[in-house]
Formats: sequence, structure tokens, C-alpha cells
Amino acid sequence: QSLSWGGHSETHASNMDFMGAHLAFISRWKETDDELCRHSMSFVLHKAIRSDFFESYLYLLETLPLVKLYAVTSEVIDGEKQFYARAQNFYKDVPASEEGMMGDYIELSDVDIEGSKEFLKKFVGGPGKAGTVCALDCGCGIGRVTRNVLLPVFETVDMADMMEEFLIHAHECYLGADADRIETYYCYSLQDLTPPCKKYDVIWIQWVACHLTDRDLMEFLIRCKASLKLNGVIIIKDNMAREGCRLDPIDSSLIRHIDIVKSIIYKSDLEIIGIQKQEGFPDQMVPVWMIAVK
Ligand SMILES: C[S@@+](CC[C@H](N)C(=O)[O-])C[C@H]1O[C@@H](n2cnc3c(N)ncnc32)[C@H](O)[C@@H]1O
Repeated sequence: QSLSWGGHSETHASNMDFMGAHLAFISRWKETDDELCRHSMSFVLHKAIRSDFFESYLYLLETLPLVKLYAVTSEVIDGEKQFYARAQNFYKDVPASEEGMMGDYIELSDVDIEGSKEFLKKFVGGPGKAGTVCALDCGCGIGRVTRNVLLPVFETVDMADMMEEFLIHAHECYLGADADRIETYYCYSLQDLTPPCKKYDVIWIQWVACHLTDRDLMEFLIRCKASLKLNGVIIIKDNMAREGCRLDPIDSSLIRHIDIVKSIIYKSDLEIIGIQKQEGFPDQMVPVWMIAVK
């Protein structure tokens, strides 16, 4: 039986090797029957496809920064994803305070809160807009957003963060008497959290989408969608890279270009209903954007 190579043997030296292996295989089995030949053929095809696939991967690696980071965010040691383990380690040493939540930019907290309040107003309270009964603050930390943006608008708020210490501080100190209006504290990593079905009018995700891998972010957004009430809205607020996508190895976060975030949103089957850049932050800072989706 003859083999058709569709021109591949000229373009890939490695295919020549497989062809050689195939021929050697046939010559060793002079009595070859149809069955054996079919197997030999599928072996060659399998190898050829695998090598083509690998070449495509190498090509993408050179052209797309996202693919480069895939290897970094998927590294597992002793069953633990290092991308998440590093973030856990980082936040262990972060103080439970507004300064801790804002990194080196505490002076920007008020501007950030004002920007968030204005943006939120566009999507709640009114016909066809989100209700004001219950919101979820994801990656809430000590509750800076909960206290200043969400509690003034919603009757109750649920809070989710992977660091127990931050949630305890929120409950015992930071939120004061308003802590009574927190219905549930979820001490969970967002990649493991499935919020209740159809519970929330607004789900706020600030400075934490950057801590999820692309796949986990997509899957979390899908779960959030199922957790929205009628007319409910998800708001993502995060740093967005001016170009491509890069890893901050210190806090183990990804800074993605807004187009990359948009494509994750579309893959989650969500629609963008509003988008705005946070004004008033210094130019040397990575731009921060707010995106409302439903
Ligand atoms: C920069 S702080 C922002 C806190 C709050 N969103 C704000 O704007 O003040 C990031 C927060 O996300 C939390 N976090 C990071 N990775 C997380 C994850 N995978 N799941 C849940 N929380 C996470 C951290 O514990 C921290 O409280």
C-alpha cells in the first residue's frame, strides 16, 4: 500500500522520520495484511498531527502573550496550582486595612469609590434595571467596596474572599453596625465558589478577576450569570494592560488587555452593557476599567 503525504514530507523534516519509521515497520512485517497497515497508517497520522499541533503551539507562543502565560498559570506542584498558592502567600502578609486593599495607592481610594458609585447608578433602580435588594462583593477583602459602594444602595450584601482574616476584620471592625446587613460571608476562593441561584441584583468583582486564570474566570462568570436575578448585572473593575497580557509575580495576578477580558466575557455568554475608564488615576498607573455585563 502506498502512502499519501499531501506535501507534508517536504515541509516537516520530522514527518520524514515518521515516514521512515513507517517504512521500516512495513518492511519488518513482510506478510503485512490490511489490518496491520491501517494501524501503521494511524500511527503515522497521529505523530504527524501531534507535531503539527506542537508547531502551532510554538507559533502562538511567539505571537500571543496569553499563551505564554498559560504555562505559568497552569503549573502544579504537589497537587497545588502555584498561581493560586503564590497569591495566598502574598495576601497572608497583607494587613487587614484600606492600605492593604489598595496596595501602594491608598490616596486613590476615594476617587475609586466615587467612580464606582457613579458607574453603578447607571444600572440599578428603575424600570428594566437591576433591583436594590442584594449584592455580592467578590474578592471583597475587608469590605472597602461593600461599605462605601454597595451598602448605601442595597438592603443586604454578601461578601466573598479567600482570606478569613479579612472577612473577620470586616465583620468585627470595619463595617461597624452595618455588619448586620451582611447576610453571608463566603470564605472561598472564587475558582471554587458557586454563588446561589438567582439571588443577586449586582455582583461586584473588583481587583480580583486578575487573580483568576482565563478558564477559571470564564467559568466563574458563567456561575455568576446563573446567580443573577432578573435584570441583574455583573460589574468587573480591574487593571487593564495597555498592551497584551502580563504576569505580576509579586501578588500573582494577570494584567490583561481589555480586548482579552472582553473575549473572556463573550466566551462566558455575557453581553457588555456598559464600559468606562476610571478617571482621575495618575497616568503612570495601569489603566483601570469598569465593565458592566449581563
Ligand atoms: C487588591 S484586594 C481588593 C479588595 C477589594 N476588592 C477592594 O477593591 O478593596 C484583592 C482581594 O482579592 C482576594 N483574592 C485574591 N485572589 C482570590 C481568589 N482566587 N479568590 C477569592 N479572593 C481572592 C484577596 O484576598 C484580596 O482581599
